[in-house]
Amino acid sequence: KELQNETYDFIFKVVVCGDSGVGKSSLIKRFTDESFSLDLKPTIGVEFATKTIRLEGGSVLKAQLWDTAGQERYRAVAQSYYRGAVGAMLVYDTTFGSSFDKIGYWLDELEKHCPEAVVMLVGNKTDLADIRAVSIERGLGFAKEHSLLFVEASAKSATGVEDAFVQLLSTIH
Ligand code: GTP
Ligand code: MG
Repeated sequence: KELQNETYDFIFKVVVCGDSGVGKSSLIKRFTDESFSLDLKPTIGVEFATKTIRLEGGSVLKAQLWDTAGQERYRAVAQSYYRGAVGAMLVYDTTFGSSFDKIGYWLDELEKHCPEAVVMLVGNKTDLADIRAVSIERGLGFAKEHSLLFVEASAKSATGVEDAFVQLLSTIH
């Protein structure tokens, strides 16, 4: 998949964080592999993926995506990978209110470990509209209040995923 002599103009480290089960790995899998799985295992520590994209202006960006574990027991090790990130994707689950209540905590952690990172807030699982628990207005309100980028997405239906990553990478660029 990865070209041997791949050339790119920029390389960006992006960390993906948020509670366990919100769909961090699924969003990355959708973006880098164009696939989705309903029975993905929780991430242990951190996983790593890359994707190279060409922006509208012609620049070629290579994104190094650091997929961190949301589970409490891996938190310390996962957060040790935030350092040097220029972008962060902070994910919550639109069907699970407590994952939204935790985004303040995740934002504090990002502030601590990679204060320079551009942050994209992502409300995932919009395909589950009938069990939605967090309105788009609440997501948007939090993003505005904290000057974050914001997108709602579904890793399952592929809605908003490309948009979230490309917006984040373009803003960093
Ligand atoms: P940790 O690695 O434990 O931090 O979790 P995670 O945030 O990486 O979550 P993961 O991507 O493993 O997804 C958790 C579960 O939610 C899996 O069963 C996924 O199939 C499911 N899931 C993820 N995204 C979506 C989505 O957009 N819609 C639906 N319906 N299910 C999703
Ligand atoms: Mg994961």
